[in-house]
Amino acid sequence: MLKRTWIEVDIEKIRKNILKIKKITKNKFLASVKCDLYGMGIRQIAPYLDDIVDFYGVACIEEAIELKELKVKKPILIMGCVLPSDVEECLINDIRITLCNDEVLKQIIKISEKYQKKAIVHIKIDTGMGRIGLREGEIDQFFEKILNFKGIKIEGIFSHFATAEWEDKSYANYQLNLFKKIINKIETRTNIPLKHIANSGAILNLPESYRNFDMVRIGLLILGVYPAKHLINKIKFDCALRCFTRINFIKTVEKGTPLSYGLSFTTSKKTKVATLSIGYGDGLKRFLSNNFSLKWKGANVKIIGNICMDQTLIDVSNKNVKVGDVIEVFGNNYEIETMAEIGKTVPQEILCGFGSKRVKKIYKNGRENKKVD
Ligand SMILES: Cc1ncc(COP(=O)(O)O)c(C=O)c1O
Repeated sequence: MLKRTWIEVDIEKIRKNILKIKKITKNKFLASVKCDLYGMGIRQIAPYLDDIVDFYGVACIEEAIELKELKVKKPILIMGCVLPSDVEECLINDIRITLCNDEVLKQIIKISEKYQKKAIVHIKIDTGMGRIGLREGEIDQFFEKILNFKGIKIEGIFSHFATAEWEDKSYANYQLNLFKKIINKIETRTNIPLKHIANSGAILNLPESYRNFDMVRIGLLILGVYPAKHLINKIKFDCALRCFTRINFIKTVEKGTPLSYGLSFTTSKKTKVATLSIGYGDGLKRFLSNNFSLKWKGANVKIIGNICMDQTLIDVSNKNVKVGDVIEVFGNNYEIETMAEIGKTVPQEILCGFGSKRVKKIYKNGRENKKVD
C-alpha cells in the first residue's frame, strides 16, 4: 500500500540538535516531550534520547506513565500542575512534581507519610507568565511550610518565559531578573540543585537565561524547528522532520471555475488542478488556503481553494504531474515556521496538528545501540 501522507523523523538529527544545545549551554538538558513529543511520537523517539538527556518534561501523569513504560532511565518532571489525586502515583514512581499550591502540598504531606518516602519536587515560580506558580509575594510563606517538612525533597526551582522568542527582550529580561532575585533570596535559606528557566526561544535569544543556571527545558528546537522566523540565523539547527503527501486526482478546468468549499478561489485562466491526500484533519491548517505553496520535484505548487478535512487542491498548470506523485509539505526551508507566521500562531501548534494519527511517522537513523532496552 502506498503511503498517503507521512512524516520522516530523523532521529540522528534530533540527537545532534540536543548535543548542540548541550554544548552551547553547558547545562543539564530536559527534553520537553509532552503531547506525544509535539505530535511526532514519544514512544518511537524518547528511547533513543535516553543516553544524552538528563530529564524528560511532560504535561501530565498519563504522559509520565507512558514514558515509564518505555523504561527510560532519566527522571521525569511533570511541568504542569498535577491534581492532588495524582500525587500518590508520582511518589510511587519517583515522578518529579511541580509544586506551587497548597492543595498538592497537603496531599504530598499525607502520601509521603503513608509511604514513608519523600516526594521529589520542583518549585514553580510565576515571574510573569501568569499560568501556574507562586507569585513573588507568596514565596516566603510557602517555603515556611515546606522547609522543615521531611517528606519533600526540593530538587529544582523553575519559571517559564512568556515572550522568550520576541525581538523585544524587555519583558523576558524582567522575568529573568525577577527569577534571579527570588533565587538569591531563597538560597540564603536553602540550596536548590536545579534552577531552570530557558526554553527554545531563550536558547536563541537570551543567553543569560542559561548562564548561571543548571538546566534548560527544550522541546521545539530539538526537532530543529525555530520558535520564530527572525531567529533562524542565530544558531543553525537542522529540521529533523519532512512531510509528504500524494496527488490522487488531476483535472483541467476552464477560466472562471470556482473551487472547493466556500468558493474562495475562482480560476483566472484555464488551470490544471491536482487534488492531494492531505487536509486540515492531517495538520494542514485551513488558514493556509490560497496562502501557501507546497513542492513538487522542488518546484512551488500553490494551494488553491479552501483546504478540506482530507483533501487539498494545488495549481499544477504546466507541470507534468501524475496521480501518485509525491508532494513535499514541509522540510528544510522553514515551512513550519512560515505556516505559524501566516496563522499568527506558534510552530508548536502547527506540529501538534500533524500529530494526527492518520499521518504516518517514518523513523530514520534510530541506531539500535543508542536505544534503552
Ligand atoms: C514549562 C515548559 N518548559 C519548557 C517547554 C519547552 O518549550 P519549547 O518547545 O519552546 O522549547 C514548555 C513547552 O511549552 C513548557 O511548558
